[in-house]
Amino acid sequence: MIERIEPLLKEVESVLISNSDELEIFRLKYLSKKGIVSQLFEEFKNLPADQKRDIGKPLNVLKSTAEGIFNSKKEELESNSHSGLQGIDTSLPVYLNQPGSFHPLKIVENRLIEIFYSLGFDLSDGPEIEDDWHNFGALNFSEDHPARDMQDTFFIGEHVLRTHTSSVQIREMEKNSPPFRLIMPGRVYRNEAVSSRSNCFFHQIEGLYVDEGVTFADLKQTLYYFVQQFFGQGTEVRFRSSYFPFTEPSAEMDIWVGTDTEENQRLTKGTGWLEVLGCGMVHPNVLKSCNIDPNKFTGYAFGIGMDRITMLKYGINDIRDFFHNDLRLLKQFQGE
Ligand code: DAH
Repeated sequence: MIERIEPLLKEVESVLISNSDELEIFRLKYLSKKGIVSQLFEEFKNLPADQKRDIGKPLNVLKSTAEGIFNSKKEELESNSHSGLQGIDTSLPVYLNQPGSFHPLKIVENRLIEIFYSLGFDLSDGPEIEDDWHNFGALNFSEDHPARDMQDTFFIGEHVLRTHTSSVQIREMEKNSPPFRLIMPGRVYRNEAVSSRSNCFFHQIEGLYVDEGVTFADLKQTLYYFVQQFFGQGTEVRFRSSYFPFTEPSAEMDIWVGTDTEENQRLTKGTGWLEVLGCGMVHPNVLKSCNIDPNKFTGYAFGIGMDRITMLKYGINDIRDFFHNDLRLLKQFQGE
């Protein structure tokens, strides 16, 4: 009998009990009337007196050990249940391997920063709540320019929610003197009807390069480089002349996405070309607003629509999808 008691003691001590079901199984197996310990006591009764002496002690140890384990586990499980952990198996392993992911807009922003860093651009930013001077006045918008209209701009008393990141150009040029070689990413706001293509807020990355002797050729070269790096070697681009109050001459740049899929036709309104940015040579009036001598310095600026190129890059068809925080979308960007 003694040979059975010793391994049983070890067994009892090593049983894992992590919930009330397992506790009950333990009780039934070892401590109930028909359990192993009771059976051993039955056998014990019938032993000759000389054997009883040797076996009584280990048998009692087995019994009290099993009872001790039962009672302390019972107490532990009850106190857990008071703290709201009932039904939760706290002994299960923890899955630490569930990393978060960057938002696709953040991935694109980081990529743009990386590309322009490699060309020697520094990073800066400015406030989203702006005054009229930084958002419009200093950028050579005339008093009656339609962009100041209620339809486009969210007003907050005397202030506006910036309608573009071009305001950061002014803040930088007021603070420092040339040369400037900066990119300025951020969120901008427009009072527009929300649809799959346009939202009341979106994201831009502003670029500014001001120094002696900067030309339109420098601008084109920089933007070509950006397109090849971001969209891939061989991506076709075209410049269309355009108008912005703060640049002269002004242009918009399109990239060729083609008309082969229905989605690309929709995206490009059948032309195959998608506008990705506005740009131009900084208007002399803008330099003057910031006390920079336009006879000495010239510069270029550009503003890239980040939401649009992110949608294009990742095949996202609805701009509103960026802001639903749907894990099914976000999880696709794990590891990027
Ligand atoms: N601010 C313009 C917009 O919101 C984009 C833009 C165009 C920025 C030309 C520039 C620029 O810096 O030179 O549509």
